Amino acid sequence: MDPSFRPLHPTFVAEAGPIDLATLTDPGGLQTIRAAMHRHGVLVFRDQHLDDANQLAFAQRFDGALHAKTGAAALGANRFGNEALTDISNVDEHGELFAADDRRRHYGLANRLWHTDASFVDPPGRYSLLSARVVPGSGADTEFADLRAAWDALEPALQQRVLPLHAHHSIAYSRAVLGFEFSADEAEQLRGVIQPLVRVNPVTGRRALYLASHASRIVGMSLPEGRLLLRDLIEHATRPPFVYRHRWQVGDLVIWDNLATMHRATPFADTRERRELRRVTTLDLPLP
Ligand code: OGA
Ligand code: MN
Repeated sequence: MDPSFRPLHPTFVAEAGPIDLATLTDPGGLQTIRAAMHRHGVLVFRDQHLDDANQLAFAQRFDGALHAKTGAAALGANRFGNEALTDISNVDEHGELFAADDRRRHYGLANRLWHTDASFVDPPGRYSLLSARVVPGSGADTEFADLRAAWDALEPALQQRVLPLHAHHSIAYSRAVLGFEFSADEAEQLRGVIQPLVRVNPVTGRRALYLASHASRIVGMSLPEGRLLLRDLIEHATRPPFVYRHRWQVGDLVIWDNLATMHRATPFADTRERRELRRVTTLDLPLP
């Protein structure tokens, strides 16, 4: 059965009506969700109760190849033994909460900077599918920013200036901003890539800014000028009218388009309360 979609924000984000993604295989249903992603940029599915295998399989049915060159992999293998399943949790391999000074905790705290997933690899991430398994009593909402609406709202002269530009994206940079240190070996694995500053959706033709805390400099511009421009654009794109805040319930699956939105985590009592989510991100390969 095709799901219906109810907007949750004036410019992006919709909640799908009842549907079981674990068993959704029919091409028409999948196509309906793909079309809704192009339109809304973020989709919320409640009551999914996916397990890891179901989540990985659905992501592949939905959008093909999976991103597995995560930044966290440079720090060590994840507890699932599958780098396509990103652990968005505050627990270690024994299920214990990370200690306050745990390096993996510090690495994960950088999710509180506005970012896109996997903009620091080539091909970059397209869709992220984040499944909530355990959520804390309060806090830990995720915020999303609409980078299409942010593009539309730029002055035409600034649009013309930004349109041809490219930025270097590196996950080492967004961590370095917070004082996180990588070994020479880790840094070598995380050198980053060049990305356009503006993306065009191949189906809708809509433009979107392509921004992230991973963006370290603008090609052909001095470091200070490039960083100021990136900072100004991120500040613009994350003004309240462009932002939606998602309050997690166990069983939620949220899918977002990394080429049309940014997101960030918000604080919670992470050394006292458990939070376990799993993310699968697909690659920006040509659409089927
Ligand atoms: C992610 C992410 C934010 C959060 O899963 O990519 O940035 O609130 N999550 O956990
Ligand atoms: Mn993320």
